[in-house]
Amino acid sequence: MPSRRQFLQQASTAAFACCSSTRFGRLVSAQATSTADQTSRILIDSRRSISPLDRNLFGSFLEQLGRAIYEGIYDPGSKLADSNGFRKDVMQEVRSLGVPIIRYPGGNFVSGYNWLDGVGPKQDRPHVLDKAWDSMNSNQFGTNEYMQWCKAVGTLPLMGLNLGTGTPEQAAALLEYCNVEKGTQWSDLRRKHGYAEPYNVKHWCIGNEMDGPWQIGHVTATEYGMKAQDTARQMRYVDHSVQLIACGSSGPFMPTYLEWDREVLEQCYDYVDGLSLHRYLGNTNEETGEDSSKYVAMNLTMDRQIAETLAVCDLVRGHKRSPKKLWLSFDEWNVWYRARTGDAVNGHRKEAPHLLEEVYDLEDALLVGGMLNTLMRNADRVKIACLAQLINVIAPIMTNENGLFRQTIYYPYAWALQYARGRVLNVLVESPTYDAKGLDAVPYLDAVATNDNGRTTLFVLNRDLSKARTVDVIWEDQPPNRVLASQLLTGNDLKAVNGFDAPERVKPQEFDKPTTSNGRTRFEVPARSYTVIQWGA
Ligand code: AHR
Repeated sequence: MPSRRQFLQQASTAAFACCSSTRFGRLVSAQATSTADQTSRILIDSRRSISPLDRNLFGSFLEQLGRAIYEGIYDPGSKLADSNGFRKDVMQEVRSLGVPIIRYPGGNFVSGYNWLDGVGPKQDRPHVLDKAWDSMNSNQFGTNEYMQWCKAVGTLPLMGLNLGTGTPEQAAALLEYCNVEKGTQWSDLRRKHGYAEPYNVKHWCIGNEMDGPWQIGHVTATEYGMKAQDTARQMRYVDHSVQLIACGSSGPFMPTYLEWDREVLEQCYDYVDGLSLHRYLGNTNEETGEDSSKYVAMNLTMDRQIAETLAVCDLVRGHKRSPKKLWLSFDEWNVWYRARTGDAVNGHRKEAPHLLEEVYDLEDALLVGGMLNTLMRNADRVKIACLAQLINVIAPIMTNENGLFRQTIYYPYAWALQYARGRVLNVLVESPTYDAKGLDAVPYLDAVATNDNGRTTLFVLNRDLSKARTVDVIWEDQPPNRVLASQLLTGNDLKAVNGFDAPERVKPQEFDKPTTSNGRTRFEVPARSYTVIQWGA
C-alpha cells in the first residue's frame, strides 16, 4: 500500500499541471487587474457582502496520531495536567484562541479505529496497534474524554467515523452512544460508563480520504458512495438532526480528482449535507520549484480546488433535480511537506511517537494567511474548515514537558479567530501582478474583509518578497471613524522559525494605525507580510 506521500510524489507531475495552471473565482479574477502606478486599490462597500461568516470556517483538527493527544492535550503524568489528565497550559491556549470546532479522532487513524476500545473503565481498555501510523494506542483517551475536553476548552466536536474497517452499523452505534439520552443499548452503555447527559454532536464526517490507496479500507467511489449512503440513512434513523459530510477527493493530485466526488455524490447526494476536501501545500521542488514567490501564491490553487469541487456538487444536484445545495467542509488544510516521510510518519510501534512535527517558518505563515483569505472569500459555500492540525502534529502549538510555544502559523490563524466576524464583504482588489510558473498573473496583494456591526476588518497578504506596496482603501459607502487594531507579521528572513530556544523569533508587530480622509485610507504594507487592520464605525 503506497503511503500518501509516495502516492503524491508519483502523481504530482501529472496533477500539478491541473491544479495550478489558472485561477478563477469572482474575487480572484478581480485581483488580476494591473494598475499602472503600482499602487493597489481595495474597494470596500459594507452593503456588498459574499455571505455571513460561519465561525466553523476556523476549526481545527486533533488526530490520534503522534503527540497530538498523548503528551499534547492529555498527559496524566505531567506536572501541567489537571485531575482529568488534561494539560492545563494547552487548554488555556486553545480556549483563548476560541477554536469553534475540532475534528477528531482522524484522519487516517479513524479508518482502523474501533471506538468501543476507547470507552469504559480505563483499566479494561486494550493496547492496540494503530496500523495507519504504526504506533501503539493505549486507548486511555477516547470518546468521553474528548467530549469532556471539548467542553473544558469551549469547542465543539466534529466527529470522524470509521468507514474503513468499520460498518454503517458501528457508525450509527457511536452516534447513538453520543446523542441518545437513554433507553437504548448504546445510550445506556454511555450512562453505565458514567456519562448521563448526551453530547448532541451535530457534525459527523463519514470516513476519511476513502479515495486514497493509503487509506485502510480504501474502495472505489461507487462502493464508498453506497456505504456512505447506508451509513447516513442508519444515522438519521438514530438522530435526524445531524449534519453529515461525505468524503470528497483528498486533493487535486489524485488521478480520480473530481471523478471520485461525482461518483460518490451520485450515490449519496440526497443523504448528506456537505462534502469534504483536503489540501496540504509545500515549497517543494515538484510543487513550486522551491520558488518562494510562487509558494506564497499557492493559496490561489485552493480557490480553484473549491470552485471545481463545487462545480461537481452542483452538477450532481442538477442530475438529481435536488432542491438541496451542498456545502463544503475543508476539513484538512495546512502547509505540510517536511515531516512527511520515513521516521516522521512511522511510529515504530511506540506510544506517542514524535510524528509529523513540522517546523514552520515565516513564508509558511504568509501562505497560511493566504489560505485563510481563500477560505473567507469562499464562505458562501465553505461552511467548515479545519487547520490540520492543532497540537504537536503539523501544528501551530508545540509542547514539551515544561510548556508550549507558538509556531509562526499560529498568528494568522489566531487573527482570523479573533477579528474575522459577521459577514465576508465582496471587496474589489486591484493589484499589480507578477509571473509565477504554472499560475496565471499573480496579484501582489491578496485581501479579504469582514464586517460585523460596523466593524470592518481587512486581511492583506503582500506577496512581494522584496518591496513594500502602497495600498489605497476606497470606502465606497461609510468611511470608518477609528482604527481599533492593526498588526503585522513580517521579517527579513523567510526561513526564520520559532522553537523552545527562541519562541518569539517570528511574532506579530504593531502596525502604524493608518489615517482616513475623504473616504480613502492610504498605507504601506511591507515586503513579505500579512497584515490585519480593524476599523470601528
Ligand atoms: O493530517 C495528517 C493526515 O493527512 C491525515 O491523517 C490524513 O487524513 C491526511 O492524509
